[in-house]
Amino acid sequence: MAMPLTPPPGTGLRFIPGFLSRETQERLIALLREVVRHAPLFSPVMPGTGKLFSVRMTNCGPLGWVSDAGGYRYQAAHPQTGRPWPPIPEMLLHAWAELTDYPDPPQACLVNYYAPAARMGLHQDRDEADFTAPVVSFSLGATCRFRIGGTTRGAPTRSFLLTSGDVVVLAGASRLAFHGVDRILAGTSTLLPDGGRINLTLRRVDRPTTQRREGAITQTTTTPRGVGS
Ligand code: SIN
Ligand code: FE2
Repeated sequence: MAMPLTPPPGTGLRFIPGFLSRETQERLIALLREVVRHAPLFSPVMPGTGKLFSVRMTNCGPLGWVSDAGGYRYQAAHPQTGRPWPPIPEMLLHAWAELTDYPDPPQACLVNYYAPAARMGLHQDRDEADFTAPVVSFSLGATCRFRIGGTTRGAPTRSFLLTSGDVVVLAGASRLAFHGVDRILAGTSTLLPDGGRINLTLRRVDRPTTQRREGAITQTTTTPRGVGS
């Protein structure tokens, strides 16, 4: 049995068990079925090796994270349909506002679907322009063993269980922490009929357009994103 996570103070890592009620999880799954109908799950490949991820993915929001032979990046269209990603469900935008004090909304919600045998190797989330924005992660369905370490690949790691409805926020020093999913624990949830797991991560990709300075909110100008920026 993994230890419950008690994040060390000052790391910016937050763990909020049971943040989403069962009823909210069910509503979210219904909304995600719509998302997947418009933006089907796809199997990304690793840029270097061309190996398929075991996790299938899609996105909602103005931008979506993709990985292919060209590298990791955010883009405005689904790689297979060429259509814009569907919008991020309102309830997730509200959760972002409740859980973070970041001035702007998230731009991408990566939807990771883990079949019972899927896993995700240790990695950093670093394709975003502004690491002061947190990454907010929601777990739905089967329990997983989540692993998190430091900001270098060799730093010690520890693992803990994430169950349906739990939220993890990677902020501050933990924003660039290596993390991954060791495995999915079969038979631990009835939320998804096939025993899989869904993880949603809300990400801000570009720098904010709103800046808080000495209590005042001022607009800043931003240049439009180019491919690969
Ligand atoms: C991710 O790092 O993109 C996914 C983490 C998770 O599935 O909990
Ligand atoms: Fe990640």
